[in-house]
Amino acid sequence: MRPPLEIVAVTGSTNADLREREHAPHGTALLADRQTAGKGRLGRVWESPPGANIQLSVVLRPALPIARVPMLCLATAVAVAEVCGEIYRIKWPNDVLAPDGRKVAGILAEMETLGGEIDRVIMGVGINVAAAPPLPTAASLLEIDGLSRDRDELARELVGGILSGTSRVGADPESVLEDWRARSSTIGAAVRVGEVSGVATGIDAEGALWVLDDRGQRHRILAGDVEMIG
Ligand code: BTN
Repeated sequence: MRPPLEIVAVTGSTNADLREREHAPHGTALLADRQTAGKGRLGRVWESPPGANIQLSVVLRPALPIARVPMLCLATAVAVAEVCGEIYRIKWPNDVLAPDGRKVAGILAEMETLGGEIDRVIMGVGINVAAAPPLPTAASLLEIDGLSRDRDELARELVGGILSGTSRVGADPESVLEDWRARSSTIGAAVRVGEVSGVATGIDAEGALWVLDDRGQRHRILAGDVEMIG
């Protein structure tokens, strides 16, 4: 049985909290009403109005090679998009977007290794459930689809989805990639990632994005921010 979801009113960062708990078992999950030092990808800050949003981290202890960590993120992105609803799409690698392209959720995975292997991955998810930060690029689920959700219920559903989705990475990675592709707004789109512009043609088993530029050259991209240019 997995540990119950722990809910705190305020903390610095749920990812940082779980990183400190070195012996927390697989499936340990922590949800905060508010974070004072929320972390985003690529060293950014994750801001979220207090109250009805999800700031959640989950401890994963998968028996997988380190190269599979990006796939854990892709599986998590699918789980996040699923709890958000049918209309939401994933932008590579794991932002969840509203149909108008505004971001409703993001994922930050942090790994601890032991002897060159994964010890644990802290999978952090932020979802703008009922309120978004005041940025033109952000939106909340409520403002997009008008549905009011029980935040704690949604978080519990999400923990279940993350644990079942990531558990498929070892045994059936192709099914994870298929689910990700089916939810993706990136594949087939004209994109710019750093210096590279072209059409996103696919992702591979290490979660890398492939882009074909207009000179016919293929690029394999491991990390970055995708800008839609079509
Ligand atoms: C991103 O899109 O940049 C990733 C955002 C991840 C935010 C979540 S909120 C819960 C967890 N704790 C953190 O400090 N960050 C992640």
